[in-house]
Amino acid sequence: MKIHLLKKDHVVINKTELTKISLAEQYLTNDYHIKAEIATKAEINKNPLRSDIINFILQNFKRETCYLEIGVRHTNENFDLIRSKIKYSVDPGYESETNDVDFKMTSDEFFAGLREGTFLNEQLKFDVIFIDGSHLADQVQKDINNSLEYLADDGYIVMHDCNPPTEFHASENYYYRISPSGGYWNGTTWKAFYNARKRTDIFSCCIDTDWGIGVISRKVDLGKPTNVKNDFFEYYILNRNREESLNLITFEKFKSYF
Ligand SMILES: C[S@@+](CC[C@H](N)C(=O)[O-])C[C@H]1O[C@@H](n2cnc3c(N)ncnc32)[C@H](O)[C@@H]1O
Repeated sequence: MKIHLLKKDHVVINKTELTKISLAEQYLTNDYHIKAEIATKAEINKNPLRSDIINFILQNFKRETCYLEIGVRHTNENFDLIRSKIKYSVDPGYESETNDVDFKMTSDEFFAGLREGTFLNEQLKFDVIFIDGSHLADQVQKDINNSLEYLADDGYIVMHDCNPPTEFHASENYYYRISPSGGYWNGTTWKAFYNARKRTDIFSCCIDTDWGIGVISRKVDLGKPTNVKNDFFEYYILNRNREESLNLITFEKFKSYF
């Protein structure tokens, strides 16, 4: 290949290097990248965190509680912070070599084992189940349905990553990092939560903090199901109708339900 020597700022560089600089400049000045970076910064500055919300819910039970976390990775980031008499953790260890959990398996394997009586007690009911394992909608929907089966009547499902701030955060691909969302990824969890939002047999809302904390309850009226029609799960429809699609509320409003 013929190399063209070009001068830029008195440094002689070849055409390939110039292309790389030009791509880097495009990255830094690209509107999608800039807007996504602003959205990421805004989201990581929000409070409270998922652990605060889970602990708030747990402390409102007037009994000793039983907590299950699906998808743990590093226990110090959430699991260790949770205050509950009984706690169980499930993770196959896809993202952490240590994987210090009770059940080193997928959530499907865990619920199958529970159903078959391989471990724990088939009659066991959890007061809070935190779903934060696979971030792909079909698996998250399975996690919601399995969790409802093992949730106490007055229990809560809590879900992470229900409110992706841009379509790049909501991509299906966890591994692509030159995206405007960088290493921040919510996956397609919002689609499973949106499906839950349409259901009339459960109540649901999403607290606007920490990438969207979805909450589902059978008993406590957290708001009406969504009427937003988004049969093909288009991100732009979510974005235009974010508040109603997700029932996006503040933590203050959420606390008023207790
Ligand atoms: C985002 S991390 C969890 C973070 C943690 N809950 C927290 O709040 O800091 C996602 C974890 O889910 C696990 N995971 C992925 N697919 C899973 C599945 N099908 N069942 C259970 N866990 C899964 C991964 O191994 C990874 O450790």
